Amino acid sequence: MSYKVGIVGATGAVGQELISLLVDRGFPFSEIRLFASSRSAGKTLEVAGNSYVVEEAKAEVFEGLDVAIFSASSSISRELGPEAAKRGCVVIDNSSAFRMDEDVPLIIPEINPDAAATHKGIIANPNCTTAVALMGLSPLHTEFGLKRVFASTYQAVSGSGMGGIRELQAQVEDYVAGKTEFETETYPHQIVFNVLPHVDSFLDSGYTTEEMKMQNEGRKILGLPDLRVSCTCVRVPVFRAHSVSIQAEFERPVSVDRAREVIAAFPGVELCDEPLANKYPMPADYSGKVECGVGRIRIDTAFDNGLSLWAVGDQLWKGAALNAVQIAELLHERNYWAFNR
Ligand code: A2P
Repeated sequence: MSYKVGIVGATGAVGQELISLLVDRGFPFSEIRLFASSRSAGKTLEVAGNSYVVEEAKAEVFEGLDVAIFSASSSISRELGPEAAKRGCVVIDNSSAFRMDEDVPLIIPEINPDAAATHKGIIANPNCTTAVALMGLSPLHTEFGLKRVFASTYQAVSGSGMGGIRELQAQVEDYVAGKTEFETETYPHQIVFNVLPHVDSFLDSGYTTEEMKMQNEGRKILGLPDLRVSCTCVRVPVFRAHSVSIQAEFERPVSVDRAREVIAAFPGVELCDEPLANKYPMPADYSGKVECGVGRIRIDTAFDNGLSLWAVGDQLWKGAALNAVQIAELLHERNYWAFNR
């Protein structure tokens, strides 16, 4: 069986990774079509050494496609996702548009693959930081029963797409050239040699929308409706891997040895936890890596039954494109293509 695949947002940071992951992981496609805005229509992009012309994303283009992976924006997903599904094309959506819809499974294939079976044409890919944090927390939850989480994130500029990557690059060059004033477009402040305690828009509560995703999406993915998460999301001048500092409280007594064992055994996660040998996961080592890294596991001093840990994962991969391709692979392996519209 092979599939006719579309990528919406093919010219973007995640779109480019989607193309190379589909090719490199050998996803069985018989046809691939690349979509972006009208600005990019007519440009050519390479897929496995062949040139493909980018087309403008419109409702009609999904006719005849089996699956479309969306990574443009929430508004494009809202506008075109249902149009694709209406035409029988399964949508795997990277945006936040449908993640909390009851009818839309929100999937991390290592954690809740079975939930994908219930899809009605649209499957959502989780928020990037949530995905990285849950890869560390899920095996611990299975072992000890997760109750409450405090987290602080160290998020790479790739999470803001090509705009974020270009802005950091340009500011690095300006800094090296001796400038002290920097042009800002994607971020409200300079990002080079700075940290911004501000990812996404502020809510009345003082949290940002990004900060609430870890609680809301975590509840849905782990099947824990009462899970409480307090998160502070921070943008740092790192190109493409996110890090998360996590303090987690559990129902049952914890041990560092057992935590290390269950993390090491969990698919898609690598235990990297030899602090005395200076071994802990870092974004520089986890960019372009399939696995997320977890380390710095220790008994938390502020919680009973608590663990502190540090998780790192490639925002463009496990946080976005890789997880989406893994969802497509899951649909393929389990033959989950049919859906009730
Ligand atoms: P384009 O390059 O034509 O603007 P990133 O997150 O890296 O900024 O990428 C965003 C992706 O979403 C790009 O591929 C961009 O295409 C695409 N995109 C933006 N606006 C639209 C639109 N109106 N229709 C389809 N794709 C869009």
